[in-house]
Amino acid sequence: AASSLQDACESSNYSPMDHENPDVDWNNLGFGLMQTDYMYMMKCGKDEEFKQGQMSRYGSIELSPSAGVLNYGQGLFEGTKAYRREDGGVFLFRPQENALRMQNGAQRLCMPSPSVHQFVDAVKQTALANSRWIPPPGKGSLYVRPLLIGSGPILGLAPASEYTFLVYASPVGNYFKEGTAPLNLYVEEEFHRATRGGAGGVKSISNYAPVLKAISRARDRGFSDVLYLDSVNKRNIEEVSSCNIFILKGNVLSTPAINGTILEGVTRKSIMDIASDLGYQVEERCIPIEELIDADEVFCTGTAVGVAPVGSITYKGNRIEYRMNTQFVSQKLSSRLIGILRGVIEDKRGWVVQI
Ligand code: COI
Repeated sequence: AASSLQDACESSNYSPMDHENPDVDWNNLGFGLMQTDYMYMMKCGKDEEFKQGQMSRYGSIELSPSAGVLNYGQGLFEGTKAYRREDGGVFLFRPQENALRMQNGAQRLCMPSPSVHQFVDAVKQTALANSRWIPPPGKGSLYVRPLLIGSGPILGLAPASEYTFLVYASPVGNYFKEGTAPLNLYVEEEFHRATRGGAGGVKSISNYAPVLKAISRARDRGFSDVLYLDSVNKRNIEEVSSCNIFILKGNVLSTPAINGTILEGVTRKSIMDIASDLGYQVEERCIPIEELIDADEVFCTGTAVGVAPVGSITYKGNRIEYRMNTQFVSQKLSSRLIGILRGVIEDKRGWVVQI
């Protein structure tokens, strides 16, 4: 695989610079875009299957002004991370889950989707081709971003005639500017992230622009991010703009049930398994906002976010504070997850995939 990858990269304007260490301050990585060397691209027609993609140099792509994705938002994205271990090995975390989630989303948005094998292979190729951008162990990861878009032109509202699957990557550190400090969340009452029967349960690009206003208002007021309530009762917690949420009370760890409005996070799923292994009772259910008042701990999970403790939640002008010295369960779950990734805790479920 390595030599065919090299061939692929060499045939796409390979530059000798690609062997040099990039000029990156690995100790201060945030979640900003850094343009890396290569991207992967594969196209197919409306009633076809994806066949063969290829690596090319990272750069702009050409799209018709009437592309389905530009006009009607026919697009999905994914996020997964490649990590470097002490011994130099490079690993991915459950990339098949992202592939399956993209397939689900593609069905919802009437798009063809890559097979699990094609998806994982493209993610591996993109990580390998950009391996000089994978941060040293413990400094962050290479965030790999697959996209599936309706790239064919269309005027009337209908599925596009052509689809593009594209994968690029950027080195990242902490998602929030708070770093690993606890988040201060604001409970949004005017806007909702998703509605019943909508596309909140899949990673449609259309779920993300509508929350920008709520996020920017909350950030202006000093909050880290926004916690959304369900749009029917305006009472049950759903998720944060970029991550899922968990609450702990005693030995019970709860998270909102998957019901079409909650994104089925890969980290969410993994934390539920790890918590069960550690003896917690894990519940996926409806969680009224009032339960946050006397929760012992609240934390968020996501690929970009990782496991992020919540220090406060502000709802209807009241600030609920969580004593940070009690946030040890989220810490414990997070260390186990990181331990599995680093190879120091047994990966009994085969989550980690070596490239
Ligand atoms: C991720 O966690 O990978 C996401 O896709 C969230 C995104 C808003 C950065």
